[in-house]
Amino acid sequence: MKNPLLGGLTPARFLREVWHKRPLLIRNAVPGFEGLLSPAEMQQLACREDVESRLIQGGGTRWQLDHGPFRKADFRRLPKTEWTLLVQSLNHVLPEADALLSRFDFIPHARLDDLMVSYAVPGGSVGPHFDSYDVFLLQGRGHRRWQISTQTDLALLDGAPLKILRRFEIEDEWVLGPGDMLYLPPHVAHYGVAEDDCMTYSVGFRAPTTEELAHGFLMHLQDTLTLEGRYADPDLRLQAHPGQISRAMLAQIEAMIAKIKWSRHDVAEFAGRYLSEPKPNVFFDPPEAPLGRAAFNRLANKAGVALNPKSRLLFTGGRFFINGEAFTPAADEVPALQALADQRRLAAPLPASLRERFHEWYEAGWLEIDAP
Ligand code: SIN
Ligand code: CO
Repeated sequence: MKNPLLGGLTPARFLREVWHKRPLLIRNAVPGFEGLLSPAEMQQLACREDVESRLIQGGGTRWQLDHGPFRKADFRRLPKTEWTLLVQSLNHVLPEADALLSRFDFIPHARLDDLMVSYAVPGGSVGPHFDSYDVFLLQGRGHRRWQISTQTDLALLDGAPLKILRRFEIEDEWVLGPGDMLYLPPHVAHYGVAEDDCMTYSVGFRAPTTEELAHGFLMHLQDTLTLEGRYADPDLRLQAHPGQISRAMLAQIEAMIAKIKWSRHDVAEFAGRYLSEPKPNVFFDPPEAPLGRAAFNRLANKAGVALNPKSRLLFTGGRFFINGEAFTPAADEVPALQALADQRRLAAPLPASLRERFHEWYEAGWLEIDAP
């Protein structure tokens, strides 16, 4: 099916020809889109402890970066031009943002990170830079001029509090209005400057480095590995230097370490836990007066259930992972759990055998009774 979001390309064709390969401008990707919140509502979010926010001021070679939470008075002091307020993970606090993000589920959930929103006054920008991730930049209210470049010179300005390219060679330029969207693969340099009061929604992705994955996997191995044996030297010979680590000792240690083995099964177990783990700054809010199991079952079985927007539910084979924890459901529970993982909600009636698990997730703040 053709997706208006992708300018008439099917998701399969977008993935084949565009994703991770080249920029794409899509006029009217979300027809009628005017944004999800007002600048005032965004400023309120930037005052919250549990919301990650940044304020970027300046231009050229002079930049200032401040981290939230902010106070209302901080915003009253700002000039009329050249600043940008950024709020991260809008999808965690605004159901409409979670719904917008779900339009991008032609990309695996394990790759999806969050929806960030920026509000900029005229001339406001985060500077010419590049990101290491793919990004969809959807314009809400107002207009932003985007300039892009596939330059290979990625040298950064010294001493700036954020990543600003020292040189920027414009190759293409467009002014985006409400509903227009620009897709950029990693490392394409871009520079977006607000033409008027403007809000931009960025769909960001996760792409761990080899080093991050390897460190994570080594930690996983450390937690799960059991190995037999202990250092032993019945053939010990007299050494000229008691202080020396002998070749025989090194050889034995090497052989012991070589007992560390892993299979695809270990990799799957690690990947599921790692990729479903919420970011370290994510905290769940369990319901203040949780319903007991019977009341929960009655209501959930009428309305269905939805994952909390902060929850990450993934699966591989018959193994499921939610927020860093693993479990293997009974075979007849798998289709319902797969549907919940894919659509992030599950319509009633709920399989009876899953209700106890769902009640536990509800008590942890991971899952909710679906809104009508
Ligand atoms: C912005 O919305 O101002 C910045 C988004 C980006 O460049 O990735
Ligand atoms: Co960027």
